[in-house]
Amino acid sequence: MHDILPEQCRYFAYLEQMTREVLEGYGYEEIRMPLLESTELFKRTIGEVTDIVEKEMYTFEDRNGDSLSLRPEGTAGCVRAGIENGLLHNQTRRLWYTGAMFRHERPQRGRYRQFHQFGAETFGMAGPDIDAELILLSQRLWRRMGIADVRLEINSLGSPQARTEYRQRLVDYLSGFQSELDEDSRRRLHSNPLRILDSKNPAMQDIIAGAPRLLDMLDAESEAHFVKLQRLLDGAGVAYSVNPRLVRGLDYYTKTVFEWITDRLGAQGTVCAGGRYDGLVEQLGGRSTAAAGFAMGVERLVALLEEGDAVPAFATPDFYLAVVGDEAERQGIAWAEQLRTACPAARLVVNCGGGGFKAQLKRADKSGAAFALILGEEEVRTGRVAVKPLRQEAAQRDWDWQDFLRVITGQGGAEIARLILQH
Ligand code: HAM
Repeated sequence: MHDILPEQCRYFAYLEQMTREVLEGYGYEEIRMPLLESTELFKRTIGEVTDIVEKEMYTFEDRNGDSLSLRPEGTAGCVRAGIENGLLHNQTRRLWYTGAMFRHERPQRGRYRQFHQFGAETFGMAGPDIDAELILLSQRLWRRMGIADVRLEINSLGSPQARTEYRQRLVDYLSGFQSELDEDSRRRLHSNPLRILDSKNPAMQDIIAGAPRLLDMLDAESEAHFVKLQRLLDGAGVAYSVNPRLVRGLDYYTKTVFEWITDRLGAQGTVCAGGRYDGLVEQLGGRSTAAAGFAMGVERLVALLEEGDAVPAFATPDFYLAVVGDEAERQGIAWAEQLRTACPAARLVVNCGGGGFKAQLKRADKSGAAFALILGEEEVRTGRVAVKPLRQEAAQRDWDWQDFLRVITGQGGAEIARLILQH
């Protein structure tokens, strides 16, 4: 698990603000779930024989002897919260969340043991229109974030029944290659054979290419749903490819699944993944409710941004207040508060920790501030302040403190700079 340092926090904050704006623009409401849930919840939803539940959860007993796990994802907790709080019954819901998730994976670039997701979950809408909305919404997020080069893959996993029949066909087919299967695939052959289709092992590719396709065995309803989804995407001008081998690593999916993938992050290229999970609410004790959603990996989005598609503009201070001498320090702290009251939107950093005039101006420059405000013994005596533009070719000027406050009251950012420079 890693620390997220200030330089990166800026990217996280930027992405979060953008995501909030876009999701709320589509009518999604934020929900915050606990980081811990009962272990049973994840076993029942994600699936007992998935990598996540078998190998990756942080599980422990609390003081009552109850088994709890740090959440490896948000969908299970969101459904639980929705059922417990009566958010899902007889209504439609659009929810979103962000926060830390935990998986004991082998850490590498784009894969961490504590990572963050933006997730969206929808309930009570059974048609492909909401699948299309989720896809369009994620596409809008790429655009707003300035992220290019992500491609969309879609597939349908059909009804649970179609999947059970398919599973048997697949096991029969793969059993014919027993001696050629790699160790992972042999292990999965009877526990989770669909995941074999996902194998990245080059030695397995020929076998996989010849396997029967679930898409060819879909039940009529899933088939119609999938065809209609593609019509909706075509109509909205979304480019996608159908990948019959896209199966996802969690058991709760039905019908549509999709992933947004980039080639710029090596093996960890999936930046967003989701699909329908129409059986999950009922499975957890609620009334049968259609559902669909997705989650994005925030660290992967940050990595893409850092590679330079678009660099977010970060807020720098408007003022850095340099205070030279004991009296100036005392006066400066009080005046800084006056300025903050007069201009709640202004950003002001006060020099704390002493230092000579030169050292303080150096810090002012490093802070990125637009102006240095300079207070020495002389200024304190006369009730004035020296205002030095740090980013523009303009002369330093002395102001009466009260006049200065009057001129900038109620302003922030660029407007402050304009008012000061034109005076
Ligand atoms: P998931 O595919 O397990 O799906 O994770 C979604 C995304 O989270 C991945 O595509 C990836 O970007 C990011 N992610 C997953 N594991 C890690 C990790 N160890 N380090 C960094 N990023 C990671 C789900 O979690 C489902 N709950 C998605 C969903 C919501 N389906 C329906 N609703």
